Amino acid sequence: MKKVFFTETVLRDANQSLIATRMPYSVFEPILSTMDKAHYYSIECWGGAVFDCCLRFLNEDPWERLAKIRSAMPNTQLQMLLRGQNLLGYKHYPDDVVRKFVAKSIENGIDIIRIFDALNDIRNLETSVDEALKRGAKVSGTISYTTSPVHTIKAFAQLAKQMEEMGVHTICIKDMAGVMSPQEAFDLVSAIKSTVKLPIVLHTHSTTGLAYMTYLKGIEAGVDVIDTATSCFSGGTSQPATETLNYALTQMGYHSDLDTDVICQVNEFFKKYRDDCLKTGLLDARVMTTDTDALNYKVPGGMLSNLVSQLKAQNAMDKFDAVLEEVPNVRKDLGYPPLVTPMSQMVGVQATSNVLMGERYKNIGREVKAYIRGEYGTPPAPIDAEITKKALGDEKPIEGRFADTLEPLFELTKSEHPQWNEQDALSYILFPQVAQHYFDNKNNPQSTQSVTTQSSTQSTTTVKTQQKVVKTVSYTLTRMQEDKK
Ligand code: CO
Repeated sequence: MKKVFFTETVLRDANQSLIATRMPYSVFEPILSTMDKAHYYSIECWGGAVFDCCLRFLNEDPWERLAKIRSAMPNTQLQMLLRGQNLLGYKHYPDDVVRKFVAKSIENGIDIIRIFDALNDIRNLETSVDEALKRGAKVSGTISYTTSPVHTIKAFAQLAKQMEEMGVHTICIKDMAGVMSPQEAFDLVSAIKSTVKLPIVLHTHSTTGLAYMTYLKGIEAGVDVIDTATSCFSGGTSQPATETLNYALTQMGYHSDLDTDVICQVNEFFKKYRDDCLKTGLLDARVMTTDTDALNYKVPGGMLSNLVSQLKAQNAMDKFDAVLEEVPNVRKDLGYPPLVTPMSQMVGVQATSNVLMGERYKNIGREVKAYIRGEYGTPPAPIDAEITKKALGDEKPIEGRFADTLEPLFELTKSEHPQWNEQDALSYILFPQVAQHYFDNKNNPQSTQSVTTQSSTQSTTTVKTQQKVVKTVSYTLTRMQEDKK
């Protein structure tokens, strides 16, 4: 019998995409033992923005959350998303920190680590993959999917081959913007299947409405695992629905292992919380609808709304078309980075500046300079030489891997703060100010309130209103700067 497996995302990606990762542990705790009986391939419950949001908004220790989920779900593979050398933060960390973080994640209950790099720079995956393999975790080597003249099927298949040689257990194709079409999925999966022997995981979002079709065609080409969300937390910027795909695939002769009664109970449970979120406004109904802007403009939805808000803030909406035209030019100049955080912010701000200043690259932002210097890795294609010169002057870009220029940090941090355990030290290294604030206030229930009201939104893809988007842009950039300190 043909098999297809399901990864349930309600605790991580659906939570992050629809309600900016604001679901507290206390909300989902009662359903964990039920979820443990559903026979998912895995439950994605950690990593991504979960770590940051626990500390920043929920007054929760992310390590404790993981350990609690682990003990409530002894029979299910727990999965996390990790941005390679970035871990869960916004800059690259030295190898000792990466190794310690990966080791502690596994020690606290993670079974499967999905590891990706925004630029698909394989060197940024090596340390975390190596440590995860050493510690006995399953590693899903992940391709960040995007479209550009240099992101060919052949190049992606080659990347999958390299990951297979690194020893990963599965290859994940990660379409974070939900732009992969059914035909593209079929062609790409077929090519990867004929290049590597590993199982293939397909990850996409329903944003543009393609996802269900993309999954079906991907499965037809040989996909083994798909990411879905329990139906009341599915659709729009989230994943397609677990029950729906299980229903359709079962009819087509696939066997999923899922217990249909249990997955219905899971959905019934989350419905109540979904309704609460709609009532409080935490969930904006618009993010659950279909938005084809990403297909029409070749700019991800979240980035498009950021551009609109930047231009409105500067009273320059008449330049909207010019900025939209400039985005692909900037992306090309910068070597076709996939338009995901933080590259989408950098490209958007640079394109806006190029248009509003009336001269291209008159101003080059600090983050763009760091990117050109090589602090994020090697771009998919070379960066325009003239722009490199403009950004760096006589300074040369970094030759090797940026992490090799970083001093070890873990033992130093531990020795400076002997009162902390290893997890605390890692929280602090990743998010210094946020973690310190959490440590100082964790026993004070009031503190969460004050943090929460300071900044109401975190995910660039979930918010639509202008006011919220302005906050998001400045907030993301502030966080990037804060972490640089
Ligand atoms: Co995603």
